[in-house]
Amino acid sequence: EWSMETFIDDTVRDIRAQVGDKKVLCALSGGVDSSVVAILIHKAIGDQLTCMFIDHGLLRKGEAESVMDTFVGKFDMKVVKIDARDRFLGKLAGVDDPEQKRKIIGNEFIRVFEEESARLGDFAFLAQGTLYTDIVESGTATAHTIKSHHNVGGLPEDMKFKLVEPLKALFKDEVRKVGEECGLPAAIVWRQPFPGPGLAIRVLGEVTEEKLHIVRESDAILREEIAKAGLDRDIWQYFTALPNMKSVGVMGDARTYSYTVGIRAVTSIDGMTADWARIPWDVLERISNRIVNEVENVNRIVYDVTSKPPATIEWE
Ligand code: XMP
Repeated sequence: EWSMETFIDDTVRDIRAQVGDKKVLCALSGGVDSSVVAILIHKAIGDQLTCMFIDHGLLRKGEAESVMDTFVGKFDMKVVKIDARDRFLGKLAGVDDPEQKRKIIGNEFIRVFEEESARLGDFAFLAQGTLYTDIVESGTATAHTIKSHHNVGGLPEDMKFKLVEPLKALFKDEVRKVGEECGLPAAIVWRQPFPGPGLAIRVLGEVTEEKLHIVRESDAILREEIAKAGLDRDIWQYFTALPNMKSVGVMGDARTYSYTVGIRAVTSIDGMTADWARIPWDVLERISNRIVNEVENVNRIVYDVTSKPPATIEWE
């Protein structure tokens, strides 16, 4: 059976044996899986590991900074941050179809990764955060796709790299335990799921800087208030979405015509089905007041009270 101490020691030893004196590249996303992979490999081979963190401009507020603070600041790892924000936004200009947006982001991610990895040096190995469930599920995956779930970070299959997959015998809860044991901050270990295409699928329709800003700022307020209320571990996912819609409001003596922001919060076991979270009304009230007061060009907040099915968790 599984034990933490032996797992970390054995894994570090296995990685050293597999890699030897070669170099390893790890695409860091800020999620728990790739974070734990990077930490374990760094424990094993130190600076033979280079991490690449691609900022596609669709991240949540503070996310890029917190990844760099953690891995460079705290763990003293080699992390190359690629600022690809303009590239992604440029490719998304004028595109409003959700699946098209996912495809563009997935393809662009692979392109950036290939270009930058070639530039960074000669890597024999690529680190992957494959879990036991990924292996099991890909064997029985149904052909029925509702959304393409293009896993950004899904990398091209024809690459020359050999894979290092230190988590492939673990379940998610075990990955979290390893992360905690290795000193990874709780914010990463317990991070709510975040889709690869990021905020691009939470701005409904065409993605613009202005709309990304609204969704990013309102989401930051929501997360702050949910954490303050002590609800962050009870709710599976909570975020804001920006429908492509303005409505009339009033501020002082003046009529406004501004955006509506939607709040989505669900409880779930695995994301396959979900129920809308019964957030206490006073918490919702604080969130609503703060978003309307602090985020420019927003005058109305709605709360999504549909479960999955028939709705999905994301709005696109
Ligand atoms: P839905 O919206 O289908 O979401 O109920 C179920 C879970 O999957 C996440 N999700 C995605 N993850 N790429 C991802 O990596 C995607 O395109 C994508 N779409 C949805 C969603 O956040 C939820 O956790």
